[in-house]
Amino acid sequence: MNILENISLKPYNTFHIDAAARYFCDFSSVDELKKVLSDKTFKDTPKLVIGGGSNMLLTKNYEGLVLRNNIKGIELIKEDKDHYYVKAGAGEVWHEFVTHCIEHNYAGVENMSLIPGNVGAGPLQNIGAYGVELKDTFHELEAIKFSDLSVQVFSNADCKFGYRESIFKNELKGQFIITSVTFKLSKQPKFNTSYGAIEKELEAMGVKERTIKDISRAVINIRSSKLPDPLQIGNAGSFFKNPEIAQDKFENLKARFPEIVGYPQNGTVKLAAGWLIEQCGWKGKTFGDAGVHKNQALVLVNYGKASGKEIYDLSQRIMDSVNEKFGVKLEREVNIV
Ligand code: EPU
Repeated sequence: MNILENISLKPYNTFHIDAAARYFCDFSSVDELKKVLSDKTFKDTPKLVIGGGSNMLLTKNYEGLVLRNNIKGIELIKEDKDHYYVKAGAGEVWHEFVTHCIEHNYAGVENMSLIPGNVGAGPLQNIGAYGVELKDTFHELEAIKFSDLSVQVFSNADCKFGYRESIFKNELKGQFIITSVTFKLSKQPKFNTSYGAIEKELEAMGVKERTIKDISRAVINIRSSKLPDPLQIGNAGSFFKNPEIAQDKFENLKARFPEIVGYPQNGTVKLAAGWLIEQCGWKGKTFGDAGVHKNQALVLVNYGKASGKEIYDLSQRIMDSVNEKFGVKLEREVNIV
């Protein structure tokens, strides 16, 4: 097992924050992971598991052991009349997994094309885009418990998925490492194009008989036009969640701000945080190398040498101003380390 010391985590987080890890270890199998976790040297050392590092903001050096999940492999484990069950190692790059599914005609994850990060982080925060969430095709996952190294299987219900939420961000936070995820994918695609921009894009592309590959291409086109590519500009996707508010509060806001963007859903209304932030004048603003993206105000960016603290402070100022103008409290989606 190769344990590195005092290394920069800059290549391992999509915000490109230059914070250091006291210890760092890459593992590519469950056995390697168990070996490092049973090493007495690190028994009481705090541990942080990372995958693609695409949903975290490092605000300081990490004085513990960073474990980088590099478990690979995509395997069709069974099929029935309607479904394929496909198991992927937690260290697979999410978009490469989606591409594999499209090539093999496994339907259900095409709307989630190009989401940065690795497969293992998917269930942690129930990733989603363009009307589809990971929970819709999730079958089960395997995870190792830090405290006794037992392997446990979690079903869809066990994971308690919600909007960008799961049991692993709540009750079981920091207690498990996800090692593989199994998806239940459809043999017959059910196209989900309800998200406005997709239909428009398919039309612009001149698609007549649609396939999951077309949907994926449409999503890739839309994402690329709005969201910065983390390889070019440091970012972690949406920095905040879209807040949910009560219907009557929404009516009050709508009376004052008729243009407000909100989507009703079982009794509450989900507001577009990007709109709220833009209305407070933040879109496209930069402060040193920290900034708010020019095409999508929900995305904070690092143009080069911003520190995690600078991005964090900017996020706080945004939250304060949105609260002051609209009386709405934003919540961060990104994990703050
Ligand atoms: N909007 C603005 N100004 C902005 C940004 C958005 O007015 O600067 C308005 C748009 O005009 C639109 C609405 O807000 O009416 C929604 O915008 P968009 O379609 O870009 O989606 P979003 O709600 O801002 C969510 C997810 C994204 C996901 C997209 C598409 C969250 C926190 N974010 O963003 O997920 O890609 O929908 O499904 O739910 C992520 O989680 O990292 C992420 C990128």
